[in-house]
Amino acid sequence: MTANELRQKYLDFFKSKGHSIIPSGSLIPENDPTVLFTTAGMHPLVPYLMGENHPGGARVANAQKCIRTGDIDDVGDNRHLTFFEMLGNWSFGDYFKKEAIEWSWEFLTDKKWLGIDPKRLYVTVFKGNDDSPIDQFSIDTWQEQFAKAGIKAEVCPYNNPVNGNADFRIFSLPAKDNWWGPAGETGPCGPCSEMFLDVEPSKGPMRKTFDEEVDGFRIMEIWNDVFMEFNKTKEGKFEKLEQKNVDTGMGLERTIAVLSGKRDAFDSDVFYNIFNKIEQLSGKKYNDAEDTAKAMRIIADHIKAATFIMGDDKGITPSNTDQGYVVRRLIRRAIRYGKQIGIKDELWTKEIAKVVSHDFSEHYPELRKNIDFIINNLKDEENKFSKTLERGLKEFEKVLSVDGITGVEAFNLYQTYGFPIEMTKELAAEQRVKVDEKGFENELKKHQDLSRSASAGKFKGGLADASEETKRLHTAAHLLLASLRKVLGNHVFQKGSNITAERLRFDFSHPEKMTDEQKQEVERLVNEVIGKNLPVIQEEMSLDEAKKRNAMGVFESKYGERVKVYTVGEGDNVFSMEICGGPHVEKTGELGKFKIKKEESSSAGVRRIKAVWE
Ligand code: SER
Repeated sequence: MTANELRQKYLDFFKSKGHSIIPSGSLIPENDPTVLFTTAGMHPLVPYLMGENHPGGARVANAQKCIRTGDIDDVGDNRHLTFFEMLGNWSFGDYFKKEAIEWSWEFLTDKKWLGIDPKRLYVTVFKGNDDSPIDQFSIDTWQEQFAKAGIKAEVCPYNNPVNGNADFRIFSLPAKDNWWGPAGETGPCGPCSEMFLDVEPSKGPMRKTFDEEVDGFRIMEIWNDVFMEFNKTKEGKFEKLEQKNVDTGMGLERTIAVLSGKRDAFDSDVFYNIFNKIEQLSGKKYNDAEDTAKAMRIIADHIKAATFIMGDDKGITPSNTDQGYVVRRLIRRAIRYGKQIGIKDELWTKEIAKVVSHDFSEHYPELRKNIDFIINNLKDEENKFSKTLERGLKEFEKVLSVDGITGVEAFNLYQTYGFPIEMTKELAAEQRVKVDEKGFENELKKHQDLSRSASAGKFKGGLADASEETKRLHTAAHLLLASLRKVLGNHVFQKGSNITAERLRFDFSHPEKMTDEQKQEVERLVNEVIGKNLPVIQEEMSLDEAKKRNAMGVFESKYGERVKVYTVGEGDNVFSMEICGGPHVEKTGELGKFKIKKEESSSAGVRRIKAVWE
């Protein structure tokens, strides 16, 4: 089965169960300043899990683009991926455990769908703790499913060895394994039930504990059903949500590999064309040596991830902060490994991006749309780094000593040769020496160039509360866009936004610097609308209807058939109308006095405004 086939089957199946198929949300979370990337399918859907109405209804399914940066330096083995697709189905207060489990079983075992032999399946459930009891309902429901295949499914207590008992099919595990979420500090979460496939059924029944069999890669996870009925509060309490939700996630790359009996997440058609291109460029074969395979996995994963991030309509480019820093790290690490396997071509990373765009544009058309932008940025970044890489590696060898790399040396490698600190650490680890990271951070601070991303905290991710402050700035962003179009013209479109509790950052298409008069006029218009205390009205409608009414669409590719539209003003007094997920204030009078702090270039043809409340 190919990845396209699995994706399509999954979506067709859930469509047949009354789900609306919605497009992937953006890889860059909207209005969530605490996290750089979307890390799971549920991430963009948090408001709906918390009770907001989704325009697609109470049952939706999709394939979501995800990035997990915590593992970047582990990529190279055959399991970790930076970018992956997550297939998921959701119930927003509609169906719950029974249907979720029955449909998981049907999709996995029915010949019409995946047709997996039920004897190869094992499941886990939550064993209970002080916050929530053992998930007996899921145990019963799973037993009913296994019984359909004539399998007596018994529960194996946590950490007991299976000892060849083929009846042990259900494993009850603690919260560290079977409680999912929240994605950040607070938010929706709940017990989960995971499905595993035996990749070596010929070995007969398992003998060791479940954990050991999973660690030994005999038993591989393919799907996770989360029963989100709790909200974790700031105080760390688990409160029942008003609605019971389902959030499921199936990692596409891993599942496609496991289904064909492979343990290697890279061993599927998701990566074959990319590997072929790398083999062509390097003149080496993937199977030549483990080192070569490792380098090729890193290049494939990293350039694919960078392509998806830059291709996400938000105009992210390599830089020293936030998402841009991750893109920079990915590209530079790939370039270093490219050199290691003997790629001599100049500006070769774009060749990989073309393959990614070719292979994935059918489902993610934004890649095709943004391919020139992606290619140009890859070329720029490679130009910058290739020149200094060789000299930097020489410098690294020169300063290398048994005592490790000092902060000053690491900073010099960063400043003069463009080595991300993570790369210096990796090079040092290969020589079994350490880098004085604290010293590096101090140097960086001294040079007034502290990369927020490099200071680790931001990589951990997490969702913030949709706090009042970000909500107000979000509404201000709509007023800003409408005002910019009035003052500068209709060529202005939103290219991205990022909101923290303190400020709004807004990127838009415009070819030149704004004059002081233009900035003042934009501020004046925004503040005028705030002064009028206009209502902000939310409506749901079809995408066609929204287009007919000339609602501003920001990122075409990510809308479903039904959308939410926010209108500021009424009747003849409509100031702004945008397709948007929300949330927003109810009246513009809730906003403060709007002030543009800065207007600068963001990338070619794109300007960036930073704005605050005065
Ligand atoms: N949120 C869960 C996960 O990421 C299920 O989708 O595994």
